[in-house]
Amino acid sequence: MNYEETKTLLRQYLLARIPFISINTIEKSRAIDVLKELSSELNLPIHVHSMSKGVTDIVTNDLVSDEKNIMGVLDYIGEQIKVKENATFVLTDASELGTESLVSRYLNDIVTIAEEKGGTIIVITSSPIWTNLQRLGMNVELALPDEKELYTLIKNVAAPYQGQITVEWDDNNFKEAATILLGLSEIEVRNVISSLIAKGSLLKEDLVDLKFAKDSMFSDISGLEKIDVDPTIAFGGLENLKEWLDEKKKLLAPDKKEQMMARGIKPPRGILIVGVPGCGKSLSAKAIAAKWQMPLYLLDFATVQGRYVGQSEQQLKEALETAEYVSPCILWIDEIEKGLSGASGDSGVTNRMIGQFLFWLQECKKEVFVVATANDINNLPAELLRKGRFDEMFFVDLPSEVERAEIIKLYLAKYLNVKVGDDFINQLVELSKGFAGSDIESCIREIAYQVVANNIQLTQNIFVDTFSKTVSLSKTNPEKIEKIRAWGKEHAISATKQKSSI
Ligand SMILES: Nc1ncnc2c1ncn2[C@@H]1O[C@H](COP(=O)(O)OP(=O)(O)OP(=O)(O)O)[C@@H](O)[C@H]1O
Ligand SMILES: [Mg+2]
Repeated sequence: MNYEETKTLLRQYLLARIPFISINTIEKSRAIDVLKELSSELNLPIHVHSMSKGVTDIVTNDLVSDEKNIMGVLDYIGEQIKVKENATFVLTDASELGTESLVSRYLNDIVTIAEEKGGTIIVITSSPIWTNLQRLGMNVELALPDEKELYTLIKNVAAPYQGQITVEWDDNNFKEAATILLGLSEIEVRNVISSLIAKGSLLKEDLVDLKFAKDSMFSDISGLEKIDVDPTIAFGGLENLKEWLDEKKKLLAPDKKEQMMARGIKPPRGILIVGVPGCGKSLSAKAIAAKWQMPLYLLDFATVQGRYVGQSEQQLKEALETAEYVSPCILWIDEIEKGLSGASGDSGVTNRMIGQFLFWLQECKKEVFVVATANDINNLPAELLRKGRFDEMFFVDLPSEVERAEIIKLYLAKYLNVKVGDDFINQLVELSKGFAGSDIESCIREIAYQVVANNIQLTQNIFVDTFSKTVSLSKTNPEKIEKIRAWGKEHAISATKQKSSI
């Protein structure tokens, strides 16, 4: 429930003099803020206990009892409730309420007295409450700030600095910041924005840093691995895929997102890239993260599989929740078939995990874009391939002549810092017939090794030698490639515009 909804409900409960109210939240101070407003509005004194201060008035902060110890304060509350009508107390530091304990039983007794005397005890906690106690009252869940609240919050934090520092952000940028910071508490958001302001400006480029701020705050990324991506990473060819991605990137702008929401259209969920080994599937996942300037997380289906009943589902759930938490992000599932081919030997688990994953894929409201790659399509479950699961399925083939030329030029520039004439490129394209992108990369890397190790001059012969020596996968295992190709043609759209020459 958001701030206003929580307030409405608490108002009702306080007016009804419900004897016990638990507010479930990790943001104590936000819950206190709601109660403070209600105390003034309803003209109802509310007293708050904390271990550090004792008992104070929620509005004036005046100390009403210096009792800090929880048992001591329960004594105090018990007495007050007997003698004062409508006494209202808030416990913010009560532990041991999760099960039957000395504290929870004592509180239980006091709540029973409160019921007779119109008193109310409110507990602010992020943990569950002992069932017997909970049954005496009501529970309210105060959620983390939603996008709207964050937008107002961020604007409020920045407002005093308008005119003093350079603020490049327009309204859309503030909205974008709100979306990015979704999942953080009010205090965390204040801290993040304040530290941006402290450097003297709010620039457009800060929004990119903001996307990465969350994952540095979140140390326990269970089930996910953060992948650092070289922002200049490039891949040759695969024009169709590139175009599709450029087109979808436009939809990431906040105004476009609003338009889609108004039309009831879901943002793009993700793609599945299948194809020949070494032709840029994994590379594409990284390139998307770099291009869209989003953090990249790797989810390994094989490692989320646990040994015990229900463990796999639980671990997958946690991993997906983490991905939502660190959103906006790219969630990369590399070689999805490996994790799904029944690694645990139990196809029931696998099926449940696919079901769980697909359900999440459809229901997830956060900005998590999934890039799944697959190598061995024979092991892919049919549910995964059904239309409408992923936005698109791309097939990556061996690079065509034009693509090979691009990849060759890319690595010549990168590893050898050379530019060569078209004639020679054409010769290398001819020599690399049947090569995967990875074959080309390793050839040119090999030449770079020789150059660095022996300080030799580059000659055409070195290239011809190295390229001719390479035995590509299409030569060692042509049947495998044929099989993947035949499948790709039928099921997926080609990632490239070119027709492969081999
Ligand atoms: N289109 C390309 N452009 C540039 N480099 C490429 C391309 N395709 C492959 N490479 C090079 O080959 C390497 C291996 O590619 P990548 O890991 O993306 O292959 P893959 O399709 O995921 O293969 P596998 O199925 O074996 O996982 C890359 O790191 C990159 O150096
Ligand atoms: Mg790969």
